[in-house]
Amino acid sequence: MSYAAALRSALERAVRGVPERDLAAATESLVARYRSVAAASAPILASPVHVVAYAAYRMPATHAALSRVLRDVASALAGSGLEPRTQLDLGGGTGAAAWAAAGAFPSIESVTVLDQVGEALRLGRDLVAEAPTESLRTARFERARAGAWPNVSADLVTVSYVLSELDPGQQAALVADAMSRGRVVVVAEPGTPDGYARILRVRAALLAAGWRLVGPCPHELACPLGEGDWCHFAARVNRSAAHRRIKGGELSYEDEKYSWVAAVAPDATVEPDPATTSSSLSAARAAGRILRHPMKRKGFVEFQVCRPDGSAGREVVSKKAGDRYRAARDAEWGDAFPR
Ligand SMILES: C[S@@+](CC[C@H](N)C(=O)[O-])C[C@H]1O[C@@H](n2cnc3c(N)ncnc32)[C@H](O)[C@@H]1O
Repeated sequence: MSYAAALRSALERAVRGVPERDLAAATESLVARYRSVAAASAPILASPVHVVAYAAYRMPATHAALSRVLRDVASALAGSGLEPRTQLDLGGGTGAAAWAAAGAFPSIESVTVLDQVGEALRLGRDLVAEAPTESLRTARFERARAGAWPNVSADLVTVSYVLSELDPGQQAALVADAMSRGRVVVVAEPGTPDGYARILRVRAALLAAGWRLVGPCPHELACPLGEGDWCHFAARVNRSAAHRRIKGGELSYEDEKYSWVAAVAPDATVEPDPATTSSSLSAARAAGRILRHPMKRKGFVEFQVCRPDGSAGREVVSKKAGDRYRAARDAEWGDAFPR
């Protein structure tokens, strides 16, 4: 069974017995709260029913987004010697990033999820009881507040959908904490203009500290996206019947929009890629990143792409390109641009 399917069945079990009216009301209040972008002065997951509602309506979506992000990171790190064996998830709540990392990195052996809300950790622990792998089933869920994390470090540190709940000073401190505890740091946020603005600040902090970007950017120059545009991607999530009932949606799917950045520590040793003269990281970055749904026309595919030279714009791959054209037909928004 896939991780997404195992998570879905664990979530179905978790909502059983909670009155749907209560779940729908808690979901509505969470949707309204997450739409406003003010830092939270008290935990947003304020009660057990809010925690279950968060898990039921948000976790399939954050899990889908993080799965895509971490799969991209995994392919960029393949062969670099940096495949993680340990994961630390800061502000990990009910554990979406732990599920996604287990799916993307079979190398992971141990996982620690830290969060301020005990009830979210309790549910996270219940959910992983049915996980497909031992490392996830034995994940540690521990209560801690940002700024007072226990002394844990890991190969991979994830910070997903957390920054919007913190003020700018706390956000910067959390990113510094993540850098001081990991060799690979991955930060994901909602794919909104303000989520992207937070990701740009994280990117600047990583580069200022000498970290090397893994993605999504194919370069370490200034982001070329201008006024009115923002770097974000989309992950398709199938909605379960229970999800549709509590969120009141009609469609059988939704597209979760997300922004992200990932980097490796300056002192992390990257094995050279035997196939190229450059390090495997810069080789993995070099292809460019697809910024919108590609337009698939008769005889050619048109892309908006972020390029390794720090520019962004239109690229066309025509049928004459042979194998590259066939790869272009399969390429999606968020993928590396076919070489
Ligand atoms: C929107 S949820 C995201 C949960 C999870 N990372 C995910 O991707 O689904 C934000 C999480 O950050 C946690 N959080 C917010 N501020 C925190 C703080 N000061 N210390 C510890 N955890 C915090 C919340 O309790 C909540 O679980």
